[in-house]
Amino acid sequence: MAEDLSISKGSKEEQYQSLIPQITGLLEGETDLVANLANVAAALKEQFGWLWIGFYLVKNEELVLGPFQGPVACTRIKKGRGVCGSSWAQATTLIVPDVELFPGHIACSSSSRSEIVLPMFKDGEVVGVLDADSTDLNTFDQTDQHYLGAIISLLKL
Ligand code: SME
Repeated sequence: MAEDLSISKGSKEEQYQSLIPQITGLLEGETDLVANLANVAAALKEQFGWLWIGFYLVKNEELVLGPFQGPVACTRIKKGRGVCGSSWAQATTLIVPDVELFPGHIACSSSSRSEIVLPMFKDGEVVGVLDADSTDLNTFDQTDQHYLGAIISLLKL
């Protein structure tokens, strides 16, 4: 039987704990936001292999696609629309165990089954969101919320 590589990578918590120092190192000495978001997206994709991981940034009252890893995605999302626009409007993290049960979910990829979106704040305002999509149901939980939030706090937005 084939070895389960996900087990040899350690628990989700262990994976985040080994990833965070790497991300801290990647961000050190670089102030360009796009460069830093691009490397964070790549590091998360490499570690977890999610379908899609990336950022949308608030520009002129819309979310506009930023650095990401995964299949091509919708470029603009209005406030309150989909999981991303709802996370922005509510200024809160949304964990969606089954995207088909989220009213108004925007299906950028038909392979997406579950999702987490965290708002990113600067001076108390949401300036963007981090979005991760998985091909499995129930992928994301409070552990992801905690560590992805910690990763966002490393960014100079
Ligand atoms: N599913 C998201 C749209 C963005 S893509 O998943 C990359 C949403 O409902 O907001």
